[in-house]
Amino acid sequence: MCGIIGYVGTRRAAPLLLEGLRRLEYRGYDSAGMATLEGKLWVRKDAGKLEEIERKLGLSSLPGRTGIGHVRWATHGSPSRRNAHPHLDDSGEVAVVHNGIIENYLELRRVLERKGHRFVSETDTEVIPHLISHFLRRGEGLERSVERAVGELKGSLAVAVLYAREPEKLVGVRRSSPLLVGKGNGESFLASDIPALLPFTRRVVPLQEEEMVVLTPSSFSLRHLPSGRAVARKPMEVKWTAEMAEKGGYPHFTLKEILEQPWAVGETLRGAGEEAEKLSRFLLRAEHLYFVGCGTSYHAAVVGKYLLAKLAGLQVEAVVASEFSESCGGDGRTAVLAITQSGETADVLRAVRHLRSLGGRVACLTNVVGSSVTRESQLVCYIRAGPEVSVVATKTFTSQVAYLLLLSLRLGEESGRLDRTEKKELLSSLLASPGLMERALRSSLTRTKALARKMLEEEHLYLVGRGLGYPVAMEGALKVKEISYLHAEALAGGELKHGTLALLEKGTPVIAVAVPGESKGRLMSNLEEMRARGARMIAVAEERDREVREHADLLLPVPRTGEFLSPLTFILPLQLLAYHLSVGRKLDPDRPRSLAKSVTVE
Ligand code: AGP
Ligand code: GLU
Repeated sequence: MCGIIGYVGTRRAAPLLLEGLRRLEYRGYDSAGMATLEGKLWVRKDAGKLEEIERKLGLSSLPGRTGIGHVRWATHGSPSRRNAHPHLDDSGEVAVVHNGIIENYLELRRVLERKGHRFVSETDTEVIPHLISHFLRRGEGLERSVERAVGELKGSLAVAVLYAREPEKLVGVRRSSPLLVGKGNGESFLASDIPALLPFTRRVVPLQEEEMVVLTPSSFSLRHLPSGRAVARKPMEVKWTAEMAEKGGYPHFTLKEILEQPWAVGETLRGAGEEAEKLSRFLLRAEHLYFVGCGTSYHAAVVGKYLLAKLAGLQVEAVVASEFSESCGGDGRTAVLAITQSGETADVLRAVRHLRSLGGRVACLTNVVGSSVTRESQLVCYIRAGPEVSVVATKTFTSQVAYLLLLSLRLGEESGRLDRTEKKELLSSLLASPGLMERALRSSLTRTKALARKMLEEEHLYLVGRGLGYPVAMEGALKVKEISYLHAEALAGGELKHGTLALLEKGTPVIAVAVPGESKGRLMSNLEEMRARGARMIAVAEERDREVREHADLLLPVPRTGEFLSPLTFILPLQLLAYHLSVGRKLDPDRPRSLAKSVTVE
């Protein structure tokens, strides 16, 4: 996700930048750096926590009244000094901090290298200063060079640019990643988010899509890049407290992260590219395939198993990581995909080592660049969902699922299960899924709140699904248990009559995760069996699904996505319900009792 900050004014920039970065650390904390301008560019940066780097390098003692700063959450290239921002061009005159993902950086890097540019990092970001300097050398001015460089970039970006030859100026651009101007007296700021601005000013101007801003100490001018038109926008007065601001104005990180899922999935899909291609080849070379994970990541593994079977005809076993060494063998023909948000879960690392000791191959899918699992894997893939602060996994689940969807489509095409047109259609629906997730969240917010209010006194909740609805039900039950402490149990529709049906009484709440597909008809029969025992049937279903409506007492509708993309939307009302249950029961969803974000003991 990363946090960026910029300052141009009459005070010393560095201490102010440091103060801003401290408040942006929730956006990224694997590396940090600063560049300021006095006569020339001064740069200090390193991997590690901001305070350690400050102690070691004295970021705040850099000279100058103009500067930019960055806290990083790596997406391309592990956390290291070289990969930390700011990044510079060859001449050392252009410095850039960036938040986002440049999709076409490899192509651009090759072109620029052929023109003689020397790259020193593994990041996608480094192409930006080189491109800007390429246009500067051709005699374009700073604003025009930034504009032309941005015109070459595909992907998401918020950038702040510093140029040694124009010391009283800062340029910023926004596309998909947030960027705000803060206006003080005789000084101007740029930042990713409001918290970084609050110590200095409450007068804020958010940039809109594709806008560029040029800041001087006394002014700021905005321009919409595609149309070239100047934009007049007055600063607004922010009333948030610093704590509210960190949570994006929401009362809890859990809610903030639930609501930012459309963005996170967009980043996952933007960043996967060649890496997902390599993963599909890696898996195809194996004869026996396992997906392993714990908790939420295990549920994503089960979604992946269903997707690979349905879309590519490939057989994968999804295994809880802690049981892997007890129940699974392997040899040189075996491959494991370890799915783990943190990359530090001890049970996952043990499973990985077990397979490697048998001669098998390991790939991982994680959110934390350079985490332990990446050091144990032959192939490393990232979901790039940005830091997840809340103990419960929400956005990383949908990002894992989005990645596995992308993978299944590639494998589906290679295995011949999907023809070109089918793959293309599914891929374009997948790329459009963030918009549908946005709608699902909007329509579920108040509905789930009202439902939670009625369920506050319940002691048990059952969630039932078939097909892809089953792992979604498991993940929904986990969310409810973790943050509302209500006992929730998920089961496959077909298993009901093999036991759990005996527990249903008049009024027992049951949520059916009624994803579209061949098994839905059979789930409807299950709904009737449960209703006949007095259960109160709530169903998550596609809007306008008449059939489900007939079998349920209450509907939580989500937009139509079709069967394969359904886990991306069907989980959203369940996460929100868990959140509202937690808050309604006066609990703190960000800090569930007895749980830790990353479980480093077996
Ligand atoms: C998710 O809400 C939980 N905090 C937990 O189940 C988590 O998914 C599990 O510990 C695995 O973590 P990992 O993805 O970092 O390996
Ligand atoms: N892609 C950049 C990097 O890896 C920025 C990361 C981000 O904003 O999440 O350094």
